Amino acid sequence: MPGSNIMASLINELSAAASAAFEAMGLEAKWGAVRRSDKPEFANFQCNGAMGAAKSAGRNPREIAGEIAAALKEHSMILSAEVAGPGFINIRVSDEAMSQRAEFIRTDDMAGAEPAPDPKVTVIDFGGPNVAKPMHVGHLRSAVIGDTLVRLLRFLGDKVTGDTHLGDWGLQMGHLVTELYDEQPDLIYFDESFEGPYPEEPPVTIDDLARLYPAASAKAKADAARNERSQKAVAELQAGRAGYRALLRHFINVSVEALKIDYEFLNVHFDLWKGESDVDHLIPGLVEKFKTAGLSEEDDGAVIVRIERDSDKKDMPPIMLVNSRGGTGYHTTDLATIEDRMENMEPTPELMLYVVDQRQALHFEQVFRAAEMLGLIDEGHMEHIGFGTVNGDDGKPFKTREGGVLRLADLNTMAFEEAQRKIVEAGKLPEDMSEQERHEVAAAVALAALRFSDLHNTRTSNYVFDLDRFTSFEGKTGPYLLYAAVRIKSVLRKAAEAGFKPGDIKIGHDAERALVLQLDAFAAALLQAREKRMPHVLCEHVYNLAQGFSAFYAALPIASEEDADLRASRLALSAAVLNQLETGLDLLGIRIPERM
Ligand code: ARG
Repeated sequence: MPGSNIMASLINELSAAASAAFEAMGLEAKWGAVRRSDKPEFANFQCNGAMGAAKSAGRNPREIAGEIAAALKEHSMILSAEVAGPGFINIRVSDEAMSQRAEFIRTDDMAGAEPAPDPKVTVIDFGGPNVAKPMHVGHLRSAVIGDTLVRLLRFLGDKVTGDTHLGDWGLQMGHLVTELYDEQPDLIYFDESFEGPYPEEPPVTIDDLARLYPAASAKAKADAARNERSQKAVAELQAGRAGYRALLRHFINVSVEALKIDYEFLNVHFDLWKGESDVDHLIPGLVEKFKTAGLSEEDDGAVIVRIERDSDKKDMPPIMLVNSRGGTGYHTTDLATIEDRMENMEPTPELMLYVVDQRQALHFEQVFRAAEMLGLIDEGHMEHIGFGTVNGDDGKPFKTREGGVLRLADLNTMAFEEAQRKIVEAGKLPEDMSEQERHEVAAAVALAALRFSDLHNTRTSNYVFDLDRFTSFEGKTGPYLLYAAVRIKSVLRKAAEAGFKPGDIKIGHDAERALVLQLDAFAAALLQAREKRMPHVLCEHVYNLAQGFSAFYAALPIASEEDADLRASRLALSAAVLNQLETGLDLLGIRIPERM
């Protein structure tokens, strides 16, 4: 955990002072909440609590505000506190306090952020790719939102484990097994009398899987008997047929290797690569528990769990725990996974976040209810972190020109190629850059483009896929932010080359004050992003910070300032911005090139 001598943000410091002042008057501390002023020409911060406090105490708001303002003026960091209108308190902070705050942020490990007050042991279930089925743009959202939440929560002190929860237990496994059989019936895996051990060398490549699954799935759609064969194969696999189990392991290994390449491009990382099939051994016991607790019932050879409540306003279908073939599906593996996590993870999780398409909301509501009914986990400890769809121009979920889903791997390639084009177009790269370095810059631009354009939307809304806009260096984009960070690096590097070093920060100009206030807002933005599980709050902050730096850069000379103390101060302030910008971008999973 970063340093114990954390300097609180100005805004928190002021809120604490105002709250203490309200309390001293016998009023509630909550009235002391302070926020950034809407009118920066009059104040840095404002406190609007006097009106509410006056109402509840039956007193005059301006009188209360006057007393609070008088108390605030005693505080060493406060330059002025004045009452305005019906009882607003406008607060200005001293340049000295701003200078100290900026200085702290420059060298702080957390760049001015503050740890969460209530850290939790948290599992983040995200990514959710399916073995054999190619990932599509929906999986992009889960991957980048989930990975960003992992980074953010961990940074703020939560003990986080990220799990992919691979889809490796459904009908697609039956499709693969049967289609492979049709191509190569002589494979040892299909010989029921074979006693093992099975070969270590996989019988298929990722290209085979990419071919077998769609072929089988298309045939099964057109032909009920073909589909039935796949269903039967899944049931046999789930019942433990050894050759099929051995095939399953191969399919998973081959898929995971390929998945890791796509995820690496997106800078997405997992602590656990567990899947649905990993909890298969827990299923019989789980079903037994539901039965013993009297929570399940037989229904036409299947075992179901009714989860509806009298208060339900919408349809709440029962969960199918075991189907009439004896097979188990998506609900059951999710329930067994919860049991597995609660019993086997150390320390025991206090929170599980599921970063999955909004369209699966019903599934999670069903699973959470059943898990709570059985007492696997307490109410409120699981959350579905849903997200909207990625749409095409037509407002419908994005499709390729051929009408298919866009595969994640193709998306990555497209973004990389578009980034290369944009870089050339912008003509920004230094002449002396090697091929290798150019390649890295293009990859960084593509990464920033894909991640930022996804994350800066409110998680729950849909957005339109527009690669041209995402990769642009102008506007609210990832590449713009990269450019902003690289520019600060270059200012500092060139200054260093000229022998100019950062020194004590002495704030004295409006453009500098505005920038410090922006830096100060980082702590609150991160805590809010965590609390709401909303990465766009962090994006918004990082973007405003970059804009704040641009305004400062346009308003004042930095390395070209003649006064040596001022120059050193502005270089240091730039370094503080860089520290926070780098931290923020890292939390968004964006890599910053050294030059571009
Ligand atoms: N594999 C699923 C899909 O592609 C997502 C898995 C989400 N996680 C979970 N625990 N259900 O839709």
